[in-house]
Amino acid sequence: MKISIFGTGYVGLVTGACLANLGHNVLCIDIDENKIIQLKNGVVPFYEPGLKELITKNMGRNRLFFSTDCQEGANFGEVIFNCVGTPSKEDGSAKLDYVFNVAKDVARYSQGYKLLINKSTVPPGTARKCQKTIIEINPNSEVEVASNPEFLKEGNAVHDFTHPDKIIIGVKSDKSAEIIKQVYAGLMRPYLKFLVTNWETSEMSKYANNSFLATKISFINEIANICDLVGADIKEVSQAIGMDYRISPKFLNAGTGYGGSCFPKDIKAICATAKEQGYRSKLLEEVHQLNERQKLVLLPKINFVYPDLKEKKLAIWGLSFKPKTDDIRDSCSLSVIKELLKSGAKINVYDPEAIDNIKEIFGEQINYFNSPEAAAKGTDGIILVTEWDEFRNINLKGIGETMLAKKMFDGRNIYNPNYLREIGFEYFGVGRK
Ligand code: UDX
Repeated sequence: MKISIFGTGYVGLVTGACLANLGHNVLCIDIDENKIIQLKNGVVPFYEPGLKELITKNMGRNRLFFSTDCQEGANFGEVIFNCVGTPSKEDGSAKLDYVFNVAKDVARYSQGYKLLINKSTVPPGTARKCQKTIIEINPNSEVEVASNPEFLKEGNAVHDFTHPDKIIIGVKSDKSAEIIKQVYAGLMRPYLKFLVTNWETSEMSKYANNSFLATKISFINEIANICDLVGADIKEVSQAIGMDYRISPKFLNAGTGYGGSCFPKDIKAICATAKEQGYRSKLLEEVHQLNERQKLVLLPKINFVYPDLKEKKLAIWGLSFKPKTDDIRDSCSLSVIKELLKSGAKINVYDPEAIDNIKEIFGEQINYFNSPEAAAKGTDGIILVTEWDEFRNINLKGIGETMLAKKMFDGRNIYNPNYLREIGFEYFGVGRK
């Protein structure tokens, strides 16, 4: 099939590359000229495991193309995926201008029947508004709108796309459902769950999915904070409740809170949508507030050890919002660094992928290192913010010997407190001693 993709962010590029790899002819459109020039040269503007290889391979096979020409994009595909950004507005609601701009371009420039599939995360009601906009712009347009939310995790997006748990589509007609089935024919397996529903239900499913996961994280963080007070161990509490098949062990890792491009933005957006309808979602508002507080959960522990942080130097391990990505959007490292700078501490940082992004924000205010060992040397403690695998089996005994004071503030509970104490560290986790 011929498929156009509008938007070459995480979602658009992963979708484009993976669909090309399934044998479709894919044209990716972005209004950012520099990005398109980079992509044409095989340069991927962010770090996502496996994506560069997939792009290079499919460009080589003449199945994946890039352009800035929206008219060309509107004409090329029988199916057009709308994967443009939906950033937060000041009131937390989703800014939908880019989504509607694509709908307008497709209405203006395309000929004959086309299926415009919204993959960007958009509030319930958006597909309906897109369809209305298309008819307003071009009353003869044969463009039909559908919704097909993505459930990709950054750092695992290529695998998630090619091995989905489920495909949810919101459609107006059987014809559009059949076309989407053809798009995904290469992924179809007897066990793959495929739900066909209406526009609003499909759009809402995405928000409900992310809201549930974010709530699960804020819940376990809340329990961890209570564990801290009563001397219980959150890792074992998580294990215990995860044994209940109704709860499941996933997304029960307590720590310094969630970040990223999705959970924070989507929770705020669904709260704003509810508010527009005259309903206040107290639960989801609180999930967001708890998470903001949780990002700084290590600070009182650091202040307990060092009431005065002036003249103290601390190493931060991990800056991205989670491992296997260079994305620092809403990462708790940002909150921690800002607070520590306010208290006058000197900060050394290390991350395998996100250093360049952090440099853009903090410039010369902090010190950058290209190994965890170098960042920790001569410091008064290590703050582990992101649980990259390379931190798990690191030689802490050796590193401890190069530090001024052996303190470990483990924001993701990855270390064994007993072992750390054995090798002379003072250990602080989240919800465990
Ligand atoms: C999420 C959803 O998982 C995905 O389905 C959706 O399409 C986009 O949003 P992503 O933001 O890439 O994906 O990351 P995810 O792996 O879900 O983690 C989000 C955040 O939650 C990270 O900051 C992570 O550290 C945190 N987290 C996750 C926890 O704090 N505890 C957990 O148990 C799980």
